[in-house]
Amino acid sequence: MKVNQDVFDVMSTMRAMRGLKPDKIPEEVIRKILEAGTWAPNGQNLQPYRFIVVNDTEKKKFFGSHYAEAMRIRFSKNMPDATDNSANARNIRVAMKFGDKVHDAPTLIVVCGLRDWPFSIPEDQRVGLAPPSYASVYPCIQNILIACRAQGIGASLTTMHQVFEQDLCKCLSIPQSYGIVAVIPIGYPSGKFGPVGRRDASELTYYDTWTE
Ligand SMILES: Cc1cc2nc3c(=O)[nH]c(=O)nc-3n(C[C@H](O)[C@H](O)[C@H](O)COP(=O)(O)O)c2cc1C
Repeated sequence: MKVNQDVFDVMSTMRAMRGLKPDKIPEEVIRKILEAGTWAPNGQNLQPYRFIVVNDTEKKKFFGSHYAEAMRIRFSKNMPDATDNSANARNIRVAMKFGDKVHDAPTLIVVCGLRDWPFSIPEDQRVGLAPPSYASVYPCIQNILIACRAQGIGASLTTMHQVFEQDLCKCLSIPQSYGIVAVIPIGYPSGKFGPVGRRDASELTYYDTWTE
């Protein structure tokens, strides 16, 4: 896989790379990836995120077994027919298989976000724990994914932990003031990955007013 590519090339080939070799990623490479994450824009520059780099086998197994179970529950009812070869069907199958081997990824990057109420919820209606500050954390996550791709590291954004977030927070000793926004399994990619397949931006764009 090419490294240090042009940024447009990086973005247009940044697939969800779920086929990962077990080889360890050097710590300085991971540090560089996380540093790129911190360069992202975030509200008031409060930088409301923390990263947990999980290399520990038992903790990866804990995540993997809960993740696989959550994927099974989520998709068992609408698994595509074995004859369905559409991009969506293939994607679901690959994502399901990933659940069974995600614990073999050399590293999981767990991105945590400070819990913070959206402005749109009045103070007197704020009950229980606030959600993590997603809008200020997703740009950071995107930078992490881009930095992985630029360095020839496979990564995929996952959010299925939401089903077992409390258990995962406990396993990783995350304080209540933070929630988990994403878990990004990373590793050197195995297999081939083509460019992303997306609708053309011109189909999604209007000028000055929404036009059907
Ligand atoms: C908010 C969000 C949550 C996602 N959660 C998962 C997930 O839990 N598991 C997974 O395998 N992929 C997850 N993905 C990856 C998408 O499935 C993937 O980007 C999409 O299918 C397009 O595939 P491509 O990026 O390879 O073109 C998530 C992506 C986003 C943006």
